[in-house]
Amino acid sequence: MTTSIIEAEGLTKQFSRGKTTVDAVTDVSFTVEPGGLVAFLGPNGAGKSTTIRMLTTLIPPTSGGARVVGHDIATTPEQVRARIGYVGQGTSGSFAQRVRDELLSQGAFYGVPAKQAKARADALIESLDLASFATRTVQQLSGGQKRRLDIALGLMHAPPLIFLDEPSTGLDPQSRANLWQHILDLREQHGTTVFLTTHYLDEADRYAERVMVMDAGRVIADDTAPALKATLAGDAITLGFASAADADAAEATIGRLAERATTRPDATTVAANVDDGERLLPRLIRDLDAQGLAVERATGVPPTLDDVFLALTGRTLREADAAHETTPTPATEGASS
Ligand SMILES: Nc1ncnc2c1ncn2[C@@H]1O[C@H](COP(=O)(O)OP(=O)(O)O)[C@@H](O)[C@H]1O
Ligand SMILES: [Mg+2]
Repeated sequence: MTTSIIEAEGLTKQFSRGKTTVDAVTDVSFTVEPGGLVAFLGPNGAGKSTTIRMLTTLIPPTSGGARVVGHDIATTPEQVRARIGYVGQGTSGSFAQRVRDELLSQGAFYGVPAKQAKARADALIESLDLASFATRTVQQLSGGQKRRLDIALGLMHAPPLIFLDEPSTGLDPQSRANLWQHILDLREQHGTTVFLTTHYLDEADRYAERVMVMDAGRVIADDTAPALKATLAGDAITLGFASAADADAAEATIGRLAERATTRPDATTVAANVDDGERLLPRLIRDLDAQGLAVERATGVPPTLDDVFLALTGRTLREADAAHETTPTPATEGASS
């Protein structure tokens, strides 16, 4: 008897591109408990969409498998599909239908009885703040409004689990914040489990309860954002001195108390990544002072998820994104939505 809403075991997907094989996803295993908000964070090309497309039964894994809402993706895909919502990457088409009619069509598609569909459409219009344009056609909506409609469409059959592939990509910061508020509210109101992907570090950091970092087809870290930052990055501290000689003398003390390797950004400055920089910094200043080494400048910067990514991969997320853009675009086997 299991209570996990997603159980993935060894999910692997290879695409053939001409004569070469692309390892899009390699041996990904994890479980998600009901009610969680999990973010897949990773640069373009990391394998986030491919993983979601396997979990939502859109493409079969090359090997490995998963149970989603209690059903096997390979043997009972229709059972899985009936119990999940999926909002793919990119915006919805420019439908000529009005927003409310679009929702009702979606309900009919999922076999939701008409009366129930109407009530649900109205509730979603309300909770996703679509009321003021419910009678507009989809093509008249802004990017952020379309994304909210996409999410409403994914929720018309009241699934306990929804997959959102880069819901906020391409939106301006205000629409992103607004969309996130709606995602958080939906969870609060309906207890929907949310599994989403993003390549925005700040979003994963702020909103996700659990962050799975993906790179080159593998999950390379999986924890809460604070835990990832504390264990993998640490606070960046710098201490500046009047002379290079003072900095030389101080470096050993700093290394010993910090229990970490030190670096020298310039001749008079010593830097280190440390645990609990807030407490360590005043202590270092006192100890150095007692040795006659006056600290003239000090900074302490808490880590970001980008520092985590850097610590894990040796490159920043932006560098990884840029590197992917320069690789050739894949042949399209199956619709890449
Ligand atoms: N249909 C496909 N055919 C060939 N290669 C693909 C296909 N879909 C994705 N890929 C490749 O698989 C890798 C992972 O892609 P994807 O899952 O879309 O990454 P992400 O969503 O993290 O940006 C990339 O190298 C991509 O080019
Ligand atoms: Mg993607």
